[in-house]
Amino acid sequence: MTNQPGLVIAVSGASGAVLTNATVHQLLKFKIPLEIVCSDYGELMWKQETDERFRDAIARWSDLGDIRVHRPDNVAAPIASGSFPTRGMAVIPCSMATVGAIASGAGHNLLHRAADVTLKEKRPLVLVPRETPLSLIHLRNLTTLAEAGATILPPDPAFYLRPQSLDDVVEALATRILYALRVVPEIDAEHAWTGANN
Ligand SMILES: Cc1cc2nc3c(=O)[nH]c(=O)nc-3n(C[C@H](O)[C@H](O)[C@H](O)COP(=O)(O)O)c2cc1C
Repeated sequence: MTNQPGLVIAVSGASGAVLTNATVHQLLKFKIPLEIVCSDYGELMWKQETDERFRDAIARWSDLGDIRVHRPDNVAAPIASGSFPTRGMAVIPCSMATVGAIASGAGHNLLHRAADVTLKEKRPLVLVPRETPLSLIHLRNLTTLAEAGATILPPDPAFYLRPQSLDDVVEALATRILYALRVVPEIDAEHAWTGANN
């Protein structure tokens, strides 16, 4: 256990459980406390993509570090208030429904409220939206969020790094998320572009 402020990690009902898992693992190596909230559809997707129940993932992570879990309908949780210190928030993956709710400012659950708070307190908010193709409505909502200060980080592979496996892609993306959350000051040499070999 540490006394440093934690990061909020939110999981919504889009595709990408493997990316959430890799990011949580990387964050726990930095001994950062995590405040976790998962929507109902996030739980459904977790089971769909991993065959693991989300609560079992929580149990795994709890063995590795300082984890607190909040129910998505508990808008009275500490992370619903700007007076509760955190060092930022990431929504991994971020569904278009959650993008729309945060962009409108009319959210109805703890994920939306915690994201709203993160923006108003001017803390890093990283959204990992997963949908393809994107409609004009999705793009407008994402633009609104970028204008409000969020980092929009689509889970696109860095093909130039020549990933050999899905694990390679996922680890590179998790590194990017940590950088966007300002957990690491730079992208490590393995995942950074160092110039073309001419
Ligand atoms: C199998 C399945 C896959 C889905 N994948 C996505 C997705 O990748 N992106 C997305 O925006 N919505 C996706 N959805 C739809 C969302 O889960 C749905 O809009 C839900 O209401 C999102 O709620 P939440 O944002 O509160 O989790 C998917 C739904 C299902 C059942």
